[in-house]
Amino acid sequence: MAGERDETLYLTDIRDAIETWWSATCPLCASRSERPRLMRKHRASGTARLAALFRSVLTMRSGRGCVNDPYAHLFLSGPLRALGALLTPGVIRALDRGLAGLFTVVAARTCFFDDALRRAIETGRRQVVLLGAGYDSRALRFRAPGVRFFEVDHPATQAEKRARLRAAGLDPGAVFVPVDFAADDVAARLIAAGHDPGQPTFFLWEGGTMYLAEGEVRRTLRAVASLAADGSELAFDVAARSLEGFSAAQRRLVRLGGALLAMGGEPIRFRSAPASLAPVLAEEGWRIREAPGTDQLFARYLEGTFLCDPGQPLDYVALAARSLRRPSSPP
Ligand SMILES: C[S@@+](CC[C@H](N)C(=O)[O-])C[C@H]1O[C@@H](n2cnc3c(N)ncnc32)[C@H](O)[C@@H]1O
Repeated sequence: MAGERDETLYLTDIRDAIETWWSATCPLCASRSERPRLMRKHRASGTARLAALFRSVLTMRSGRGCVNDPYAHLFLSGPLRALGALLTPGVIRALDRGLAGLFTVVAARTCFFDDALRRAIETGRRQVVLLGAGYDSRALRFRAPGVRFFEVDHPATQAEKRARLRAAGLDPGAVFVPVDFAADDVAARLIAAGHDPGQPTFFLWEGGTMYLAEGEVRRTLRAVASLAADGSELAFDVAARSLEGFSAAQRRLVRLGGALLAMGGEPIRFRSAPASLAPVLAEEGWRIREAPGTDQLFARYLEGTFLCDPGQPLDYVALAARSLRRPSSPP
């Protein structure tokens, strides 16, 4: 993964430029050379809100019910709800053409992860850990007797989510574990919160790896592996490493989107592909079991909906399984 620098990493440069400017001008920074925190301590994640907006709109518009998140709208402010109402199927298709299928990617990954979680519960996993949970409502949507959900997220985002749930009179029964992946020991926090590393767990890291530095992603994967009993699974997605195959107009729009994310304090910092991550995961005992391409995901979940296959994906999903028994080791 290291050293895989290509033109799309210009986003890192934009972030650096913004941070440098911020450090030089921010009147509240303790010292002018201090670099700002990426996820700001007291501000809930904007990208989590954006993901909730996408799911809310897709739930409203998808008709066939491929994305069905009846709680997503609870996490949206009035203006965002109004914006969502303007996103008709025609508008979404037009946006998707420019933004390389962003809505389709979110729809496909939601369906893929929902399916993986459903199967994990049906086949006996009793612990689910949602890493960087944001406004994920799976603890409500997949609530089942004997299944414990742990929601791990940045404290500010989590506090905002809990307040919104309280206001709606909803209790997902999840264990909330506030964690900053950049600073905290995820494994220790989960153990302290009651996670049982002796039992197989379904870990889901949706829409999260791309906002961390590579070292933080690796550290989190190591922490997760240290808690993963034989039979555990890890579902995740990674931002595509290259914009190869995208039209010039799409590249421009994707870059603009990236710059806006950076300005909002959540730049894309990590890009890869499941195949490039396989050796890193293998070091921790994970084997990638499934990494379907967008065309496969589209055929599986979205054929017949108003969404169009974007062809070139912005994001890759994968499902890995943990097996501590090596195939070559004696029984
Ligand atoms: C794009 S959102 C995804 C949320 C959710 N998984 C979803 O798909 O809707 C990214 C999430 O990562 C979390 N996050 C980003 N940086 C983090 C950090 N350093 N520590 C903990 N969580 C972080 C944010 O709080 C946010 O909830």
